[in-house]
Amino acid sequence: MQETVELIVHSAGELCTVPPEAGGPQRGERLGELGLIRDGALAVAEGRVVAAGPTESVRRRYRGLRELDAGGRVLLPGFVDPHTHLVWVGDRAAEFEQRIAGATYLEIMAAGGGIMATVRATRAATVGQMVAETLPRLRRLLAHGATTVEIKTGYGLETATELRQLRAIARLQAEQPARLVPTFLGAHAIPAEYRDAPDAYVDLLIETMLPAVVEESRALGWASLPFCDLFCERGAFDLAQARRLLTRAKALGFPLKIHVDEFEPLGGTRLAVELGAVSADHLVATPPEEIALLGRSSTIAVSLPCTPFGLAEPHYTPARALLEAGAALALATDCNPGTAWCESPPFAIALACRYLRLTPAQAIVAATLNAAFALGLGEEVGSLTPGYAADFVLLDFEDHRHLGYRFGTNPVVLVAKGGRVVVG
Ligand code: NIG
Ligand code: FE
Repeated sequence: MQETVELIVHSAGELCTVPPEAGGPQRGERLGELGLIRDGALAVAEGRVVAAGPTESVRRRYRGLRELDAGGRVLLPGFVDPHTHLVWVGDRAAEFEQRIAGATYLEIMAAGGGIMATVRATRAATVGQMVAETLPRLRRLLAHGATTVEIKTGYGLETATELRQLRAIARLQAEQPARLVPTFLGAHAIPAEYRDAPDAYVDLLIETMLPAVVEESRALGWASLPFCDLFCERGAFDLAQARRLLTRAKALGFPLKIHVDEFEPLGGTRLAVELGAVSADHLVATPPEEIALLGRSSTIAVSLPCTPFGLAEPHYTPARALLEAGAALALATDCNPGTAWCESPPFAIALACRYLRLTPAQAIVAATLNAAFALGLGEEVGSLTPGYAADFVLLDFEDHRHLGYRFGTNPVVLVAKGGRVVVG
């Protein structure tokens, strides 16, 4: 083992290892264990952490290796962004102005704008155009520390374009270093052509699109199926439709995610728990009894504070209640052209500290380890304890609490993926 060790990374300031809790996410009120080592170091071999501890002891164990000196900067696991809609074409700046003037997101959507506006632009695009528009966003996310990024389809809402979005994700994986996790979100909205027959669109999803996604995943050489996600909301999919699609997807072997309670509670959180979804996302209008259910389940609670902020809505995820109920809370950007064009996990953390009342330490764990569990990758990324990928970031300050405290500039000065510096 010792011969293969190639790098020591050390910080005279804070190394946050973010340990898993009994092999799982950090749950409930125990969220926030940073595993902080002052003057700490990592030893890296073949892209993975093999040791983490006080610098002197790591040095003694692995003498004479190449060293990366972080100075006094905070050394953290790379951020995991477990919820984005990054592959889209065009923008919705005009809708942003309409919302400022008083129109609501759901009103704009009901009038044929919103998600459908981006669908029209994305349907007209080739895979190459999708990649060309998305790659700069992904590079900016990476520059803000995101070393693992989930990306949803959902701007096709027809088989061919949904598959092109999956191909775009595969191509983006080949063109840049962040690890990408695909999600099929054919159930993002009822497309205009099915407006009067939404159940027929659910039939199409079940009978045609799910099998096509299974086949495309094989063709792309993916080792496992993407997640299957659905937007359960008034104006999108109701609970019965959600149950029908996700039950079928689960039977085909898709791991599940679901957008729930963004504006109104429809019972989607209960469904997520019942179906064993890997995560339930948004969770703003979630009723107390469903918070309790989620708290007792293994489904990760993903909060997206950039979304109410982006919409200038006053309501955020009731994070303290979720923690009291024992839930495993994670954070994501939700980067999308409608509600939250945010390419910065540190900004999501800054919002979470203020509006979810998380401490910086809690928000950091939610955006690293717990976010990795929201992607089923909690044993591979999101921590800097031995065995995990050596995906790490350096922050341009000496106290981790400055993450959250400060906002509006990028604190990330170096990003490494698998022990290799990719930014900085
Ligand atoms: O997570 N809520 C649904 N989907 C996105 C918004 C997508 C869009 O408006 O384009 C969200 O907020
Ligand atoms: Fe979303």
